[in-house]
Amino acid sequence: MAVIGAGPAGLFASRLLAVNDVHVVLLNRDIVPGGLAEYGIYFDKYKMKEGLRRQFQQILEHPLIDYFGNVTVGDDGDLRLADLRALGFQALLVTVGAQGTKWLGLPGENLIGVYHAKDLVYHYNSLPPMSTREFRIGRRVALIGAGNVMLDIAHWLIRELKVDEVVSVVRRGPNEVKFSKEELKIVVRNLDLVKLEAEIERTRPIATEVGQDVDEAKEYILSALPKGLDPVSDTRFYFDFLTTPNRILGNDNGEVTGLEVEDTTLVCAEGDVEAKRLGTRRILDVDTVIFCIGDKVDETFGLPVRKNAYVKHPNPLYPVDELSFEAFDPDLNRPIDRVFVAGWSREASSGLVGVARKDGENGARAILEYLKSAPRLVDPESIIVEINTRLKKLDKPIVLKTNLIKLFEVFSKEAQQAGLPDFKYKTNAEMLAAMGLAQPETE
Ligand SMILES: Cc1cc2nc3c(=O)[nH]c(=O)nc-3n(C[C@H](O)[C@H](O)[C@H](O)COP(=O)(O)OP(=O)(O)OC[C@H]3O[C@@H](n4cnc5c(N)ncnc54)[C@H](O)[C@@H]3O)c2cc1C
Ligand SMILES: NC(=O)c1ccc[n+]([C@@H]2O[C@H](COP(=O)([O-])OP(=O)(O)OC[C@H]3O[C@@H](n4cnc5c(N)ncnc54)[C@H](OP(=O)(O)O)[C@@H]3O)[C@@H](O)[C@H]2O)c1
Repeated sequence: MAVIGAGPAGLFASRLLAVNDVHVVLLNRDIVPGGLAEYGIYFDKYKMKEGLRRQFQQILEHPLIDYFGNVTVGDDGDLRLADLRALGFQALLVTVGAQGTKWLGLPGENLIGVYHAKDLVYHYNSLPPMSTREFRIGRRVALIGAGNVMLDIAHWLIRELKVDEVVSVVRRGPNEVKFSKEELKIVVRNLDLVKLEAEIERTRPIATEVGQDVDEAKEYILSALPKGLDPVSDTRFYFDFLTTPNRILGNDNGEVTGLEVEDTTLVCAEGDVEAKRLGTRRILDVDTVIFCIGDKVDETFGLPVRKNAYVKHPNPLYPVDELSFEAFDPDLNRPIDRVFVAGWSREASSGLVGVARKDGENGARAILEYLKSAPRLVDPESIIVEINTRLKKLDKPIVLKTNLIKLFEVFSKEAQQAGLPDFKYKTNAEMLAAMGLAQPETE
């Protein structure tokens, strides 16, 4: 079968399938496997990243897993999903993560200085092509959202770029922040505590109205202080609660000059607390706006999308933990033949690496159940021959397991020589050259 996407979900799924004697063709857009574990997790978490890399390399050593990197699957890609189905794979598992961008449709989103967190994260983690894209980051930055990705970006702005001001714009209240204390420790000593106190008091009556205790939220935030890292900049970091973005203002050069926000209040809805716009607006004096609001799946991949993720069969034939991993066409109201989804492709921007691993493995379990009665369409060897032929016809080098071994050797040599804990090339051309793979002249 084919697994598309070698992030944590695809890699751990491949391992479970391989140990159950399934031959896996693993196709990956990036040259290097690992997905967001390699290109999302903050670059200074060396130990965690190294541990994950080792596990991924071990997985790829399995003789029943064939790796093909630098191959994009999708309607605009090197191969379409339909091409893979036509090759006769018994099943296809889609674990391509959530590569699309959640635009809110606000006026000014196209101004210079408006970015989405994923692009910046890919930039500072050296994923081509974002690694070499220019970002215009100013001195006063608004981060929309209050999750761990917001904190990763705040980390970069406060401890690397040392900007003047970072404001986290939170549409709900202090009780709805999504980040972990562990991550807050990194920037908490830059937090403006006077502003925090004022925000807690401002939001108290509204939160009390919906049965929340803002003192609990305050305690949660402040509990990160004792173990907070020593600050390395004078950046002022603060939260602006009950505030949602309305439009981004710009100058004649098309650069951001401010963010118009709207005040919100909290309302109870279906067992949850939601933000309701109040109509009152004000301008935040910022020159950069970064959306840290989660991502959605790539709509050009070739599968139907709803609620930011690929659609699953509402009544799955092979459920695992009561979850569906079977791709579904809601317009035709029928399952999509032989296609399964897992990881952030199944539920976008949800959870840590461990969650993606479990989801990938559960996707593999669903497939193993399905394979018990699935017809073998063609001889497996002929699929391997055919996929190799198809990939050879592409006007680009394809990266195999043997090439990756060479690349990792080069990375570790470069790191050693430079005395760095870690090293990566920023362009595909450099990586391909390091592996001795020819780069077509057009690139
Ligand atoms: C900024 C950030 C920081 C994070 N930090 C942490 C952390 O510190 N600790 C933690 O536990 N978790 C962290 N996470 C969460 C973790 O990274 C994810 O849970 C996990 O990586 C999701 O795995 P996935 O395999 O579903 O998708 P991804 O990791 O996104 O992998 C998708 C894979 O699919 C490939 N692909 C994409 N499109 C195509 C295509 N069209 N064709 C072929 N291949 C394709 C990509 O090359 C990639 O290899 C972080 C997430 C983000 C966004
Ligand atoms: N170091 C780490 O461990 C680490 C680092 C990065 C990411 N991760 C994980 O990766 C996953 C994704 O993280 P994430 O930060 O992208 O997502 P997240 O935790 O869901 O946070 C998203 C934030 O954006 C807000 N938001 C969403 N839509 C919005 C809109 N339309 N307008 C205004 N605000 C909006 C949300 O507010 P509402 O709550 O109101 O929706 C929330 O505050 C999480 O599981 C996270 O823990 C972990």
